[in-house]
Amino acid sequence: MLQVAPSLLSADFAHMDKEIEWLNRSEADWLHFDVMDGSFVPNISFGFPVMASIKKEVEKPFDVHLMVVHPEQWCETLSKLGARMMTVHQEACPNLHRTVQQIHEAGMMAGVAVNPGTSISVLEEVIDDIDLALVMTVNPGFGGQKFISSMLDKVRRLRQMIDARHAHAWIECDGGVNLETGRVLKDTGVDILVAGNTVFRADDPVKMVHELKNL
Ligand code: DX5
Ligand code: ZN
Repeated sequence: MLQVAPSLLSADFAHMDKEIEWLNRSEADWLHFDVMDGSFVPNISFGFPVMASIKKEVEKPFDVHLMVVHPEQWCETLSKLGARMMTVHQEACPNLHRTVQQIHEAGMMAGVAVNPGTSISVLEEVIDDIDLALVMTVNPGFGGQKFISSMLDKVRRLRQMIDARHAHAWIECDGGVNLETGRVLKDTGVDILVAGNTVFRADDPVKMVHELKNL
């Protein structure tokens, strides 16, 4: 069954109690937590104090997606905050293999993300070592963007790479996921769907998570 990771970026921050209440009640597998630094991406989101605060109430593991330069410097901080998964962008990591090691040494699962313009060939040398390969299906920085359908072929090739190597990495897709694109992604071999607007703006987010999980 698919895993679903609602993306906090689309939450109504004026009513966090309400958002956390339905999230805990839902079948969501993760809370996807997008950190943006205004440098790697043209936007700034939220960071560690927010995570420390909501971590006390959220009963789902945190899937932290770092859209920041020098992400390796945050391994200890995120580990201490209790993150289960730390995902860095390949484009931000000149020493990617070392960064993956550092994430594991800090006791977290390691994810590597690639932007739409980045080939999955950059994952070949780390695919056996990572727990998650994140294919961005929009250019990172904002919620509510349109799914880039040419990414489906990239996901298909990544599935082949992982299966051929008998690697254990999950494939996660992030950006423009709804019931329609989620269905196609599932058929293409995705393991985890990140969904921001589709879930947080739904009339019934709990039902939407259920529907995405059961595509
Ligand atoms: C975009 C973020 C996504 C974003 C997805 O850079 O990484 O996680 O919240 O939002 P939707 O699902 O609305 O496209
Ligand atoms: Zn994300």
